[in-house]
Amino acid sequence: MQPFGLLARLAAFNSYHRGHLAMPRPKRIGILTSGGDCAGLNAAIRAAVCRAAELGWTAIGIKEGTAGLLTRPLQYEVLTPDMFSGDVMRRGGTILGTTNKGNPFAFPMSDGSVRDRSSEITSGFNELDLDAVIGIGGDGSAAILRRLAQQGGISLVTVPKTIDNDVGMTEMAIGFDTAVAVATEALDRLQPTAASHHRVMVLEVMGRDAGHIALSAGIAGGADVILIPEIPYSLPKVAEKINQVRAGGRNFCLVVVSEAVKDVEGEALEHEFADGQRRFGGVGAYISDLIAENTGAEARVTVLGHVQRGSMPSWRDRMVAAAFGVHAVDLIAEGKSDRMVAWWNRQVIDVAIEEAIADYHSVELDGPLVKTARGLGICLGD
Ligand code: F6P
Repeated sequence: MQPFGLLARLAAFNSYHRGHLAMPRPKRIGILTSGGDCAGLNAAIRAAVCRAAELGWTAIGIKEGTAGLLTRPLQYEVLTPDMFSGDVMRRGGTILGTTNKGNPFAFPMSDGSVRDRSSEITSGFNELDLDAVIGIGGDGSAAILRRLAQQGGISLVTVPKTIDNDVGMTEMAIGFDTAVAVATEALDRLQPTAASHHRVMVLEVMGRDAGHIALSAGIAGGADVILIPEIPYSLPKVAEKINQVRAGGRNFCLVVVSEAVKDVEGEALEHEFADGQRRFGGVGAYISDLIAENTGAEARVTVLGHVQRGSMPSWRDRMVAAAFGVHAVDLIAEGKSDRMVAWWNRQVIDVAIEEAIADYHSVELDGPLVKTARGLGICLGD
């Protein structure tokens, strides 16, 4: 054997083994859904799991949001692409479960006290030996996860989801498109019965402090009046619009009211649940009664509620969820953290979580959809 050949083979052997020693170990990423559920969450989980598998990583689904890390043993399961080969991505809800209660920094205990349980969660992340976490949630969840990540030194990427579509720095949050489709379909179903009975039909939709669902569905569903929290309404203006429609010969009216619209005194209408939690509720019936009293028209109310959250995701929610899930994993692969994936100008991008949280996205009063509604002659209450 030539000495040169031996040296060359030794060099090749060394560099091969150096290369292998230098290869990073496959990552372990945690995935959780947090806050209220919505359509498209399973499609986002699937996308992240499939992309992680492409990279040879292990994906671990944490159950019930951060609550899965508050119990011992921890609640989690390893997620693999074959678990998503069936109808899971087409289903509403979240296979991981979620919670919109129990901020770990001020956790309500059974004795009525409040305790900081954040360190239990960060040690849970460490017990799972995670390199990074993907948190799929709204702005409230993102703020809590960010604080936990900073406290525990954990890499975090968030994925915006909420039917309310109020997360800043993104045109779309997962779940919004489906919720609007459901609300629009409700108007389609209300119109014939409204016409049959010469009625004003009031549809109360969700959205918390943002009127995006009401505005989009109201435009798409041919509403005559759309009331959103961002635009204070005058009852005489609403009554005038309904009287105008009726005087013009049309025998029905459609009114969409967002749940956080206030009463005429400017007070929020809320319902107190048995557990003491207060949630928006009642404005649809309130507006319906006022319309009946002030116009003489017969009015009925439909409260759409959680129907807006539970449906099969629309193609757009699935498509955006897929892009979000893949991009979230790619950000981790690039060593990035503290980023939120976002939808902007027909593509997926990423932004600082801090900026997204700071930029609450309500309906822009001079935005294109408000102009469209006004252009159609829809009464926005002002
Ligand atoms: O944030 C999503 C949302 O559906 C809001 O539109 C609504 O006000 C709220 O959650 C309802 O919360 P819960 O599911 O606790 O009743």
